[in-house]
Amino acid sequence: MACDLILVLDAPSPRDVTPALRQLQGTVRWVKVGLEMFTACGPDCVREIAGLGFEVFLDLKLHDIPNTVAQAVASVASLPIGMLTLHTSGGREMMEWAVRAQQQHAPHLRLLGVTVLTSTSAAGLAATGVSDPPAQQVVRLGRLAIDAGLRGLVCSPLEIAPLRAALPPDVVLVTPGIRPAGAKADDQTRVMTPAAAARAGARYLVVGRPIFQAPDPVAAARALLAEISAP
Ligand code: C5P
Repeated sequence: MACDLILVLDAPSPRDVTPALRQLQGTVRWVKVGLEMFTACGPDCVREIAGLGFEVFLDLKLHDIPNTVAQAVASVASLPIGMLTLHTSGGREMMEWAVRAQQQHAPHLRLLGVTVLTSTSAAGLAATGVSDPPAQQVVRLGRLAIDAGLRGLVCSPLEIAPLRAALPPDVVLVTPGIRPAGAKADDQTRVMTPAAAARAGARYLVVGRPIFQAPDPVAAARALLAEISAP
């Protein structure tokens, strides 16, 4: 299946990104609203961005007791969003409750389970008490998420192959940790280039700073789309 871009809007307000978004209408389909914008502007920013014609991926990375996460899923169900994230490390019961809330309140919403953050290195993971390599922990969390009823995961492109070997083929894999050749990694550690991630089988690439910190973000988004659609 083709690989698509999810453009990350890590900014405090939709106003900061609207000029670029207007130029990308019709070129980019999906945008990601994350903690920075949502904690500053709340549900209104989601409605505003959806009003510009984009599909919204709401990256709240929910992680709490099952009842609280289920209620949060019910609370965002009225928003115009197509994807919502939660942390698989919240455990099986938390994910089952979230899936039930999604099925009841937002049947068209895709819940995605974040496995190991792409900023986490093997040493960083070990410091939390998980001595297995990141790929092994990602597969463990991925299995747990699928058993709990999720049908999509967020992982590094480095873990696509082991997840594909372990999970049903219809599981959607969404990958941040994307860095064009020669770009700086910033706080990300488990990274891959856009072309390599697309070749590895990612369904969606989540890309922020390599686009918005480029001298011309619109040109950078177009170049990235060309790179991932090249045969
Ligand atoms: O700027 P950059 O391309 O690194 O942005 C990546 C985005 O993806 C950030 O908004 C971050 O919150 C998100 N993300 C991530 N790793 C995950 C899940 C989400 O980097 N595992």
